[in-house]
Amino acid sequence: MIKVSPSILASDFANLQTEIEKVEKGGADYLHIDVMDGAFVPNITLGAPIVKAIRPHSKLVFDVHLMINEPIRYVEDFAKAGADIITVHLESTERVRETLEKIKKLGCKAGLSIKPRTDPVEIIPYIPLCDLILVMTVEPGFGGQSFIPETVPHIEKVRDLLAKENSNAEIEVDGGISPKNVRTVLNAGANVIVAGSAVFKSDDISETIRGLRG
Ligand code: DX5
Ligand code: ZN
Repeated sequence: MIKVSPSILASDFANLQTEIEKVEKGGADYLHIDVMDGAFVPNITLGAPIVKAIRPHSKLVFDVHLMINEPIRYVEDFAKAGADIITVHLESTERVRETLEKIKKLGCKAGLSIKPRTDPVEIIPYIPLCDLILVMTVEPGFGGQSFIPETVPHIEKVRDLLAKENSNAEIEVDGGISPKNVRTVLNAGANVIVAGSAVFKSDDISETIRGLRG
C-alpha cells in the first residue's frame, strides 16, 4: 500500500492547525515534520514544542525527519512530544546504531535517511534496526527544490538490500515529488511518498494526494 506524507514545511505556519486538518481530510496517511538545526543543513525550522502543540489536533502518523547533528540528544524530546516515526540521517552521527536503538526503546518506529550522495550500501549494518529507510531525492535543507533523477537507482538499491535482508522496512522518498514524477519513484520501490509544495500549494489537496499514490 502506498502512503502519502505531506511535509508541513510547505504549509502556512501561521495556520498550522487548519493546514494539518486540510491534509488529514484530504486523505494523507502520515504527516511529515522536517526538523532542521542550521548545522547539519543550512536552514532552521521547528522543534519538539511545535510537535507537542499540534499532536492533540491530528490522528495522522507523525513522521518526524530529523536533519540535525547528533540526533540522539533530542530523540526523547520528540518521542515525548508525540512522534510516531523518528528518522535520523546516517551522515549526522557516528552513533547510528545507538540512536536507532534509543528511538525503538522509546516506543517509536526508527527510520534511517541517506542524502543523494551517500552510497546506499552504507545502510546495510543498520537494516535490522530500521522500520523505514528514507531516500532523499533532493539535498536536505529546503522545500521546493527539483527532484534529482540520479537518486532513482538509490531507491532500487535500497529495495534490493532490504529484500536481501528479509526486511519489511518501508521505503520513503522525499524532495521534489509531485503527481507528475511519482511513477518513477514508485516503480523503483518507494512506498511512502513525502510531498511538501505539491500538496500544500495545490488547489485540490485530495486530488493531489490521490495523484501521489500513482
Ligand atoms: C527537505 C525536506 C523535505 C521538503 C520536501 O529537506 O526534507 O521534506 O519539505 O518539500 P518538497 O516536496 O517541496 O520538495
Ligand atoms: Zn523531509
